[in-house]
Amino acid sequence: MNSVINEPLRFVTVNNERFRLFISEEDIKKRIKELAGELNAKYAGKTPIFIGVLNGSFIFFSDLIREIDVDCEIDFFKLSSYGDAKISSGNVKLLKDLNCQVTDRDIIIVEDIIDSGLSMDFIKRLVTKQNPLSFSVVTLLYKSDCVKIDFKVDYIGFQIPNHFVIGYGLDYAQKARNLRAIYVLDK
Ligand code: IMP
Ligand code: MG
Repeated sequence: MNSVINEPLRFVTVNNERFRLFISEEDIKKRIKELAGELNAKYAGKTPIFIGVLNGSFIFFSDLIREIDVDCEIDFFKLSSYGDAKISSGNVKLLKDLNCQVTDRDIIIVEDIIDSGLSMDFIKRLVTKQNPLSFSVVTLLYKSDCVKIDFKVDYIGFQIPNHFVIGYGLDYAQKARNLRAIYVLDK
């Protein structure tokens, strides 16, 4: 029966730690539609480049982009900051640069989560050096307790407390990215 197949897992265990359901698949879908609506209105008649930040944003990116109905291009950065830990190393490394030219283009960075803000600060410096026409950020999750960036994040899916979350692209030591919903460490 469909209702059984769609029943969300309430708890999952990853690397021997227990996580509980935090944001359901349904709530994520609904919020993505709202964010896409705002982006479609804002970029009507333009051709922005949506830039995903790998690995974490890959599922959010693919769900968001399919709700976008303006002409657009896509590209990806790959960064690493967390290693296998639950706390950011604070050391951002660029593992893959862009293939596109951002000069004079409307740029929209798509992130899974902004925690310390160090990754986004790094990306902003990198992109704005090349003089884009505009620079915006959309993030599915935003940990407002941690953020140390001095610029506004334009589009936020959900503001969350400073808890470690997994699923829907977000990993714990590379696991759990395939979970359909977002789960929080169950303390
Ligand atoms: P920041 O540089 O501290 O803002 O962290 C950015 C990156 O760390 C995000 O793009 C995620 O990939 C990862 N990250 C931050 N918080 C979490 C979390 O709670 N769970 C899993 N990954 C996280
Ligand atoms: Mg990320």
